[in-house]
Amino acid sequence: MRVGDRHFRAVWWEDGPVRFIDQRLLPHKFEIASARSYAEVENAIREMGVRGAPTIGVMAAHGLAIAARDGEKIEHAYGTLQAARPTAVNLRVGLDAVMSHTDSPERALEAARAHDDAEVSAAEAIGRMGVELMSQGTRVATHCNAGWLAAQDWGTALSLIYRAERDGKMPHIYAGETRPRLQGSRITAWELGQEGVSYEIVADSAMASLMRRGLIDLVITGADCIAANGDVANKIGTYPLALAAREHEVPFYVAAPLTTFDRAVATGDEIPIEERSPDEVLTAEGVDAAGDSVRIRIAPADATAINPAFDITPAGLVSGLISEAGIVPASTAGIERAFGAAA
Ligand code: MRU
Repeated sequence: MRVGDRHFRAVWWEDGPVRFIDQRLLPHKFEIASARSYAEVENAIREMGVRGAPTIGVMAAHGLAIAARDGEKIEHAYGTLQAARPTAVNLRVGLDAVMSHTDSPERALEAARAHDDAEVSAAEAIGRMGVELMSQGTRVATHCNAGWLAAQDWGTALSLIYRAERDGKMPHIYAGETRPRLQGSRITAWELGQEGVSYEIVADSAMASLMRRGLIDLVITGADCIAANGDVANKIGTYPLALAAREHEVPFYVAAPLTTFDRAVATGDEIPIEERSPDEVLTAEGVDAAGDSVRIRIAPADATAINPAFDITPAGLVSGLISEAGIVPASTAGIERAFGAAA
């Protein structure tokens, strides 16, 4: 995708360091950062300078290639990178794409780049496969950021939106703000603005009443891991959105590349859910009138919080899964069909 007159991916290799758009600073600052060692790659993933399941897989793949180049202990680098964010299965897929090539730094880098290119192709295909769900002016609710910063170059849920916009269908997006880190208000809103897509930010808690008023035609989210039975792990707040969609008979689709499906995991109950710092719930971050970053305390000084970063949406609430292999039911048979089509 373009920012100004330059084409960017969220993460790319550039003569040694891996570069990335620092997503913590968006939308107020567009800054390119570098990770020079696998430890710096791990830090960028853990601290969410780089985020979104397919993108962190690409970042981790490059991290392992850097570890191979630097003569690091590969098993240790693999374990450290994998532990950075436990829910997104793409992280492991990215590492596995490189692992068997780490005896040669050149081949490890080639494998990381091939994995990156494959994720770009998959993200682009998701938009083509899913755009049939969109009519002229479809009003789409989405959650978190499932755009080109989260899945290299196109996104997952937003790949359909970008394709529909290019096809002249002029969709309107309700971007759920996505408490507590506000990826919707910050990153989805920024991406849609860059692409000229019509959008409004909506408090997560307002989505159900927008559905009740008949304002939402379709919900599309991304995923961090999809179990063999079609249960979906995605950003916390996805499950209540799916429940509200079911109550109001609004179709609820999940868009993800096949690298997000983990057929070794039987159901959503087996997917590890990342717990993040309570500070993300107890405080808020933004910029002041001078544009300087500030973090403010919202809750009482002695308040505590729990902060699960993802939830599980049962397959029964999902109208369909959109991948590069097409649209299939969220079921074991549907997922087998998707992998069969891709083989
Ligand atoms: O914690 P994040 O911001 O990395 O969570 C991201 C999401 O939950 C996305 O919806 C998901 O990765 C799929 S979008 C490519």
